[in-house]
Amino acid sequence: MIKRLTANARKPQGFWGKLMIKKMNATHYDMTRWALEQIKLPEGGAVVDLGCGGGRCVKLLDSMCGAKIYGVDYSPLCVKKAGRKNRRSIKSGKVEILKSSVEKLPFGDCSIDCAVSVESIYFWDEPDKAFSEILRVLKAGGSLNIVCEMVKNSDGTGEHTDVAEFLKLKYYSIDELESLFKRNGFENVSSVFDEENIRLIVSGVKR
Ligand SMILES: C[S@@+](CC[C@H](N)C(=O)[O-])C[C@H]1O[C@@H](n2cnc3c(N)ncnc32)[C@H](O)[C@@H]1O
Repeated sequence: MIKRLTANARKPQGFWGKLMIKKMNATHYDMTRWALEQIKLPEGGAVVDLGCGGGRCVKLLDSMCGAKIYGVDYSPLCVKKAGRKNRRSIKSGKVEILKSSVEKLPFGDCSIDCAVSVESIYFWDEPDKAFSEILRVLKAGGSLNIVCEMVKNSDGTGEHTDVAEFLKLKYYSIDELESLFKRNGFENVSSVFDEENIRLIVSGVKR
């Protein structure tokens, strides 16, 4: 049972996907709130949540800044659930949820001020393609902020090795994350852990 649930973290669908979305909305909330308080959010313009899952981060972003908020996810179930969670702001035009892969974003060049992504990067099959696509859509001065709590030690060990193997996910170290930013053209790359050294934000800026 737990395996079926966990397997749905990659691309939630069906019964177990619905349960997983509920679980992620609940268990990722504190981390998301902490992360968004560290990130400089724009007052206007546009912010995107990449791999938005059930849409709770989108809702927080909506309450925390005046920018237009987009949520994107390649799972149709997530698009539906995130849409429900944000229905009022979708009606008013402040929020939009789009079905899309991070490797091919539905935005024009230089149109986004800030991109965030919570607990999603592990599943991106083509991370370099995704990063250069994100760079394309960011405005000059715009930032990408990757938030995660499964972080490998630099010697390759880590407490999430089993789940990483089970889910066949990409289990990154800080160095690997930072080099993903740098080799795809991001500047001012920096990392910050929370007080307990569990939650990590890696950020980079488009010049
Ligand atoms: C572990 S969930 C996290 C969801 C949400 N960010 C949260 O914190 O609750 C990972 C999400 O990323 C999405 N995802 C994974 N790979 C993706 C890709 N290549 N393009 C778009 N979405 C992706 C999945 O569908 C899933 O909703």
